[in-house]
Amino acid sequence: MMRIGMLTSGGDCQALNAAMRGVVKGLVENVDELEIYGFENGYKGLIYEQYRILTAADFSGILTKGGTILGSSRQPFKQMRVPDENGLDKVEAMKNTYRKLKLDCIVILGGNGTQKTANLLREEGLNVIHLPKTIDNDIYGTDVTFGFQSAINIATDAIDCIHTTAASHNRVFIVEVMGHKVGWLTLYAGIAGGADIILLPEIPYDINKVVEAIQKRSNAGKGFTILAVAEGAISKEDAELTKKAYKAKAASRKYPSVSYEIADQIKEICGVEVRVAVPGHTQRGGSPCPYDRVLCTRLGSAAAKAIMDEDYGYMIAMIDGRTKRVPLGEVAGKLKTVDPNGQMIKEAKRIGISFGD
Ligand code: F6P
Repeated sequence: MMRIGMLTSGGDCQALNAAMRGVVKGLVENVDELEIYGFENGYKGLIYEQYRILTAADFSGILTKGGTILGSSRQPFKQMRVPDENGLDKVEAMKNTYRKLKLDCIVILGGNGTQKTANLLREEGLNVIHLPKTIDNDIYGTDVTFGFQSAINIATDAIDCIHTTAASHNRVFIVEVMGHKVGWLTLYAGIAGGADIILLPEIPYDINKVVEAIQKRSNAGKGFTILAVAEGAISKEDAELTKKAYKAKAASRKYPSVSYEIADQIKEICGVEVRVAVPGHTQRGGSPCPYDRVLCTRLGSAAAKAIMDEDYGYMIAMIDGRTKRVPLGEVAGKLKTVDPNGQMIKEAKRIGISFGD
């Protein structure tokens, strides 16, 4: 009898169910006896023994279904070693649940923070397989994460919609794109949506350069400008502050997000109308795009193979179009960021896209 645990942790995305389905189908087809324990709401389920016993039927018909059938929650890595309000040692509790259920392995789907905890559990002696999920695409050691492509499609659609109204009204428009502290989603959606200015956390902006780019368009007879701004975009000035000083400044800001501050600054300097559009969590919603469905099916199937080989302690990555087992200890805690001097940025600059630098 093979006993597998499974959980989805952190912010959800469109393709979590598709990835779980891939793992389960890969096992069901090849293992005689299988028990699947689905932990509810991320690591919480593992800590507090909240789980459902699932069958192959539970994973049928979910390839196209967004969200996660297991539920998810954020359990910050920093808090994992801190006892809960009743003094419960969370790491010990997770180990106890794993041992009590006699699991052979636990499959953990999540982003960076989730991966750090997965690695911690590996260090504590559990058999772990991690699948790289996030719309932010910031997981080190894989070319791409699932959710990223689906989110690009939604953010691009948002920019497309803004394009038509911006053109009709001759307005400057900011579309704020998710991505936490990295700019992958904004870069891809910005280029796909034909944004004129793209602001990323990896390339601190100078507001005067942003304004110059808007005026250059206006002088060339172009009545509207589209800015794709990452939610983590930062000005040159702020990037030079210490972490502590930046936190204090951010806490006293009157704007709900960086885009509104940029909008105000542009208005003030250029005297033009600026509007902000924030697609927000729509970027994580809906069905996975075909690319993500294929990616998740491949990653899930590769995860099933690793489990059947009893080869644990890996993230199943996609590198150069091939699935690969990457040791968790080599990647946990590292962030994959956009290279400000990379080819993609150079190519975008060559066609006139401004990064405000
Ligand atoms: O990591 C995915 C993500 O959507 C980020 O892009 C964003 O910064 C964050 O999660 C939002 O988190 P929450 O859903 O907790 O508001």
